[in-house]
Amino acid sequence: MEHEEPGRIRGSSAFFILHSSLRRILPCSPLVLGLALPVALPLGLLAFSSGPMPNMTGGFGEPTCRSCHLDQPLNAPGGSVRVTGIPETFQPGHAYEIAVQLEREDLRRGGFEIGARFSSGPDRGAQAGTWRPLDARVQLQKSADGTLSFAQHTTAGTLAATRGALQWSFEWTAPAHASGPVQFNTAANASNDDASPLGDFIYTDEQSSKSR
Ligand code: HEC
Repeated sequence: MEHEEPGRIRGSSAFFILHSSLRRILPCSPLVLGLALPVALPLGLLAFSSGPMPNMTGGFGEPTCRSCHLDQPLNAPGGSVRVTGIPETFQPGHAYEIAVQLEREDLRRGGFEIGARFSSGPDRGAQAGTWRPLDARVQLQKSADGTLSFAQHTTAGTLAATRGALQWSFEWTAPAHASGPVQFNTAANASNDDASPLGDFIYTDEQSSKSR
């Protein structure tokens, strides 16, 4: 008994510290539970690595993956995310192949999420165009209200074939009727493959494309 008691107290206060620090960042309780539970339950019951929640790209005032992957600075030196294929000027209805390239020394696993929204005009913040995965490493995720669509990694897409670099390719079809320029926001996670949200580096990118 004397040996068990201190251990129990330490365990539960560690849980409390993690929980209360998350509360400040994530006022929404399901999200708090999402991170607190893996501490208490065997890892793997909750598979965040199989695809993060929507609206985590850092654009339009939304948070990034750093809400949970929070122990390293944003855009830390030693790594980068590069998004290629976004045209300077897009042609309505035209399909573009876009690639997200993530680099960090020793990177073995990683993930990303990208969104495309009108950046001005009456449709500011609304979905601009459509995404299409080109392989099983990319999937789509809708916002809670169903109006926005994000492209993001699948579990298979988290594994780096070459240590230090990860790439995802997919298609974006420009809106048929463009009401203004489109803003692309990307957040990517160069993670350490320890099945936890800690020790991971989050990188962000923002680009804009004018309508023709
Ligand atoms: C609400 C909390 C939360 C948010 C937000 C979140 N993650 Fe995670 N993520 C987790 C947890 C918990 C794990 C560990 C469990 C697992 O691997 O599924 C994890 C694991 C991962 C892993 C595997 C990491 C490893 O080292 O094994 C990747 C890759 C990943 N997340 C990518 C992302 C990306 C990209 C975003 C943002 C677009 C994101 N996550 C946002 C909670 C979150």
